[in-house]
Amino acid sequence: MKINTIELIISAVRESQYPTDQKKEFLLVGRSNVGKSSFINSIINRKNYARTSATPGKTQTLNFYKINDEFYLGDDYMDLLDKKYPGYGFAKVRNSLKKKFGLIIENYLKSRSNLQMVFLLIDFRHKPTEDDVLMYNYLKYYNIPVTVVCTKVDKVSKNNHQKNKNVIIKELNLNNENDIILFSSITKTGKNEVYDEIEKYLW
Ligand code: GTP
Ligand code: MG
Repeated sequence: MKINTIELIISAVRESQYPTDQKKEFLLVGRSNVGKSSFINSIINRKNYARTSATPGKTQTLNFYKINDEFYLGDDYMDLLDKKYPGYGFAKVRNSLKKKFGLIIENYLKSRSNLQMVFLLIDFRHKPTEDDVLMYNYLKYYNIPVTVVCTKVDKVSKNNHQKNKNVIIKELNLNNENDIILFSSITKTGKNEVYDEIEKYLW
């Protein structure tokens, strides 16, 4: 796949601002700081088009990037959910978060008939969090195709790749290894696999 044009269409704070032209859409989900914006920058071959942040939880909008005038990449959905609850893993906000988490994504899934597939970004260095697992199961429940992207692969020594991959397969209960892409925005590992995955849906 060749990236010819990219355009940030809108940084939406509410549903009424989402694009309505029905182009195919791919959504990124993943907790704060997992590397969503870096992933987008890698995919569109730019250094800092999607703003990356050293401070977790900075991005608080749902950004729609239109690529080749053909499809959308939606960035930072979980951060939108995360807005009121920075560090959503903390027990004190868990119940309220889960309520919110369910409601907003449910609305999104209901209204986005153009949604093709979700990239679930997980930090390759760690075991998936409870919320990562919850999100994966949630998407599966709604029959949304999911591609698991393990980020920051450059930070894990090659010796541990298979081990860490196995942990993710086990925790998410994946059927086969093909559901997983090992990705690094530093080395660009996995970039072509991401393109291939998107292209499957563009016909
Ligand atoms: P929020 O929008 O704040 O939720 O974060 P995000 O998920 O968009 O993450 P972002 O792309 O801003 O990256 C967070 C930090 O991780 C930044 O310091 C990035 O430089 C770093 N980072 C992201 N991807 C990688 C990667 O593949 N390898 C390494 N080594 N660092 C990465
Ligand atoms: Mg971001």
